[in-house]
Amino acid sequence: MEETAQIFEKLPIINFSLIHRDSVIHRDSVIKQIHEACQNFGFFHVINHGIPDSVLEEALNVNSMFFDMPMAMKKELLSDDVQKPARFSKIRVGCHEDRMLSRDFLKLYAHPLHHFLNLWPSNPLNYREKMGRYATEVRKLGIELFGAIMESLNLSPTHLKQNFEHGAQLIGVNSYPSGSDVKAGTSAHTDHSIITILLQSSPGLHILDRSDGAWKSVGKIEGALEVFVGDHLEVISNGLYKSVLHRVLPSSNNGSRLSIADFHSLGMDDIVEPATELVNEEHPKRYKGSSLRDFLEHLSSKDTTPFIQTIKI
Ligand code: OGA
Ligand code: NI
Repeated sequence: MEETAQIFEKLPIINFSLIHRDSVIHRDSVIKQIHEACQNFGFFHVINHGIPDSVLEEALNVNSMFFDMPMAMKKELLSDDVQKPARFSKIRVGCHEDRMLSRDFLKLYAHPLHHFLNLWPSNPLNYREKMGRYATEVRKLGIELFGAIMESLNLSPTHLKQNFEHGAQLIGVNSYPSGSDVKAGTSAHTDHSIITILLQSSPGLHILDRSDGAWKSVGKIEGALEVFVGDHLEVISNGLYKSVLHRVLPSSNNGSRLSIADFHSLGMDDIVEPATELVNEEHPKRYKGSSLRDFLEHLSSKDTTPFIQTIKI
């Protein structure tokens, strides 16, 4: 069925270079597009984002080399402790059409980079250099996107800026091998982050079309990155923007699939709450305050309720 997943044609493609032009008209039009994308889809493609193609390609290459290494070379990073700054894991969670879904992943804490870089994989030899460069570039983009998103909510572009700039950046590299006994994939979920920025080697990501309730493939646009509204942006916006429900079912025709998900949050113990400007009599506060640490604790607990449900008022 996934081979024929319909492409989600209407998804917004935001040309982010326009935001840097000296024209207020360009800037305002980008902010308006971001507003509509976040409100209607919780998702958009971003093009002309300023990260050189070579940085994206090398990040995918070096990770593909990592996952291709024999298990003996990755074993020392094997862990299920979600607080560990660099860990490798194989997970089998969720089902699709009665088959277990599986993926291998590498989770890396990435900010401040100098705290964590020496804990990242030391093989392949240029892993830290190439992924360090990617992490730095994508962080810059994340900070710019965050400011634009705050503006799109009619908040000051400096709203929570300091917290975001000092906040956490977690990178999840996902490998979906082809031809394994179980099906490669990730079951339906929302991300806990404020925003997630995704780089994918091939299609396979599906999001739920809220207009007809059908799963659709977001496809792949060469050079583009994908931006997701996460749970904590839903909270800041007091529910105006909803975190996007997504899943991964790579087509077996495309060989192995690799993706790099970059999760941006506030600091580990910063409490995220609805912006007071967005709470009024007509729109009462809809979420309790919560931190990234609360999410990680929820993730390690036995409770399978989606995190966002646990913080709704
Ligand atoms: C995730 C995720 C998407 C992908 O890691 O949270 O949704 O394309 N990844 O692998
Ligand atoms: Ni996700």
